[in-house]
Amino acid sequence: MKTILITGAAGGLGICLVREYLSRGYRVFGADIGKRPDTDKLLAEADGNYLFFETDVADTSSVQKLAERVSAQTESLDILINAAGIIRPESEDILEKFDIDGSRKLFDVNALGPLRVVKACISLLRHGKEKLLINISSEAGSMTTHADYINRYDYCMSKAALNIQSIILQRYVKQEGIRVLLFNPGWMHTQMGGPNAPINPADSARGIADLSASLCGKIEDIPATGMFWNYDGTERPW
Ligand SMILES: NC(=O)c1ccc[n+]([C@@H]2O[C@H](COP(=O)([O-])OP(=O)(O)OC[C@H]3O[C@@H](n4cnc5c(N)ncnc54)[C@H](OP(=O)(O)O)[C@@H]3O)[C@@H](O)[C@H]2O)c1
Repeated sequence: MKTILITGAAGGLGICLVREYLSRGYRVFGADIGKRPDTDKLLAEADGNYLFFETDVADTSSVQKLAERVSAQTESLDILINAAGIIRPESEDILEKFDIDGSRKLFDVNALGPLRVVKACISLLRHGKEKLLINISSEAGSMTTHADYINRYDYCMSKAALNIQSIILQRYVKQEGIRVLLFNPGWMHTQMGGPNAPINPADSARGIADLSASLCGKIEDIPATGMFWNYDGTERPW
């Protein structure tokens, strides 16, 4: 049975990714800082094919414990998706009001969190067949096409950091056949995206899973092209 680990698994996009990969026949391991009401419902429905591990991606020992708990269940991971992420109301503040020191936690979760999870789980991914590492980025991390923000320093910078992290990782693991993908999931109707967002996270999850499946095993052009994607399958300029 194919296996996948998804962080942010209780969140809006994360739970849709869990549902999507369960429907595709994967055994799913979910990690999140806490459960939401739908988490237990999904665990009950999944008939043992979904396991959830409470994990703080900003805490190295918590991530190490996650890797140990997943390793107790499987010798390999086909796919790892880093979807955990945060934004804070203060991200909206313009320069003069912006609390720089208050933004450290956001970097710890959005930029360093994925690296912690990859470091702890890379040996499981090396033993997997599909060898896909997927980091959920954002249009906010794109230098050329971002939404012309004059605020959101911390969120945009954290996603740009995730992008360069992914480029470095791709160089490092390319010879082993591991493909690293970055996705802009779109402006989604989730806790983070808010009620006015136009995109259903289930559509985003399906798009991410479809494109990832089609790119699996193909690592020739990267990292110059073919790494940063929108959920609808179009390529995202850096
Ligand atoms: N929504 C959008 O429009 C949008 C657009 C572009 C990119 N994204 C990205 O898409 C990803 C998913 O976002 P979403 O919209 O699904 O947001 P969401 O509904 O808020 O889900 C994010 C999940 O990550 C969890 N989380 C937060 N801190 C964590 C930590 N330290 N360790 C482990 N889990 C943690 C959250 O838990 P709590 O709820 O308890 O904090 C939540 O369950 C994020 O990386 C986000 O940056 C979202």
